[in-house]
Amino acid sequence: MGFEAAKVLSAQGHELTILCRNQATADQTLSQLSGSARSVTCDLADLSAVEEVCNQLLADETALDALVLNAGLQYAGASEAQFSAQNIELTFAVNQLAHQLMAMRLLPLLQRAARPRLVITASEVHNPGSGAGKVGKPADLGELEGLRAGAGFAMLNGSARFDGNKAYKDSKLCNVLMARELNRQLDAAMPVIAWSPGLVITRNSGGFFRYNKRSNPLGMGAFAFVARDLLRITESVDNAGRLLAQLVNDPEIPTGFSYFTNKVVSFGGHRLEPTDTSVEGADLQKAEALWQLSAQLITRSLST
Ligand SMILES: NC(=O)c1ccc[n+]([C@@H]2O[C@H](COP(=O)([O-])OP(=O)(O)OC[C@H]3O[C@@H](n4cnc5c(N)ncnc54)[C@H](OP(=O)(O)O)[C@@H]3O)[C@@H](O)[C@H]2O)c1
Repeated sequence: MGFEAAKVLSAQGHELTILCRNQATADQTLSQLSGSARSVTCDLADLSAVEEVCNQLLADETALDALVLNAGLQYAGASEAQFSAQNIELTFAVNQLAHQLMAMRLLPLLQRAARPRLVITASEVHNPGSGAGKVGKPADLGELEGLRAGAGFAMLNGSARFDGNKAYKDSKLCNVLMARELNRQLDAAMPVIAWSPGLVITRNSGGFFRYNKRSNPLGMGAFAFVARDLLRITESVDNAGRLLAQLVNDPEIPTGFSYFTNKVVSFGGHRLEPTDTSVEGADLQKAEALWQLSAQLITRSLST
């Protein structure tokens, strides 16, 4: 999705800085873009690497018109947690903590731009009231007991039993709360946009469902066939990328927090609409607590 958005933005003449996991991906990505782009490489599962890449960008002092926090992973179906370089559960470490660190460090570059904005890719699964959010255990951060206990937790609500599907939903709820908290800190001075792209299942072995395709090929194959080919409730990756590019560009989006969902509106048809978040996703106290506890965990992790 990020690559498809980059293609659109690059063709429109924007100057892109693209974060890629490694040099091979960076070379391949840049070779397929038509416009001006540079890459930085960083494994988001390592906060030290995120810090280093932010320092590189800060040293360069180039203003950022838009900061797009879009990378993400899921291990739905997994019952064993995996951990980042700093011993933080991987879904939370990559989907949320690495992005909070980037936002914390790169805000000064955004604030140098004339009309900056932040775009954060969340998901409707953050909302227990949505169709996708109801499948399996719903997102619920509790009182953030896991995060309060520090690195090594399995689940943010303190449960010791890992549930990969719920961990992903929780991380996307964290994305929504991060957008709320950033908007509060910025005093609604720029658009802070969280959004949900809808269900995007690529036909190849990669993409967002790569883990499920390997761990449960039959189940995932059946799910993909029903959702994508029979019910046609999925969005294509290139359309999702175009929507992401639109959110980066659209001058009509006002300053302050907004949340958009790419809704299924007809057989095979989607429409991007402003939508309410879940109740928990609108809890400003929880948003602030999540930010502060995460900032403390980042500081501790980087100092050891
Ligand atoms: N697909 C869906 O149905 C769906 C639905 C709702 C929300 N979303 C959200 O949309 C966003 C984009 O997902 P997608 O569908 O485009 O999935 P994707 O094809 O798997 O892309 C995810 C991107 O994140 C990067 N990434 C993952 N872990 C990383 C790490 N440790 N370090 C650096 N980069 C890392 C991947 O890099 P590599 O290519 O190197 O792996 C890839 O570029 C995610 O935030 C996801 O949660 C997706």
